Amino acid sequence: MKRHEIQYHEYLRTQDLPAHEEVLINHAKEALKGSYSPYSKFQVGAAAQLSNGIIVTGFNIENAAYPVCLCAEQTTISAIRTQYPDTQIEAMAISVKSAHHHVDRPATPCGKCRQLLSEQERLNQKKIRLILQGETGPVWVFDSVNDLLPFSFTGEFL
Ligand code: THU
Repeated sequence: MKRHEIQYHEYLRTQDLPAHEEVLINHAKEALKGSYSPYSKFQVGAAAQLSNGIIVTGFNIENAAYPVCLCAEQTTISAIRTQYPDTQIEAMAISVKSAHHHVDRPATPCGKCRQLLSEQERLNQKKIRLILQGETGPVWVFDSVNDLLPFSFTGEFL
């Protein structure tokens, strides 16, 4: 039997994070206010720290044709890759808020976004840290996207 293990950090309060990560999660919380999510009423905001010092944000954009919905991670990656194509991504913070209930734990990225982020990490040639928090509650920090998507599918299989 083989075993796969991951490690991640848990901070009980945002104030306990390293200062630049606290800044990033606060940008994600600000970004989710722009979310267009009239169907799920679930707002997601993302903020990415680039190696050139710039922070790029994004949010989920829904559509009456549900499968057309864009996740916050997706709009953020699109913005980064179109505006700063050759810049490395250091970290991405993601925060969520629901109109239906209070989200007091981190929401982890959906499978599609893990796959999207995983390929970006490979292109990046540097691990992308993920910093996740609900509306309140603990903050989880993963040192690499692939901690959340082990055994990922990559272009090497093609
Ligand atoms: N959503 C994201 O933005 N990111 C994820 O990783 C999971 C889900 C959005 C999509 C949809 O607008 C809403 O959250 C509910 O699924």
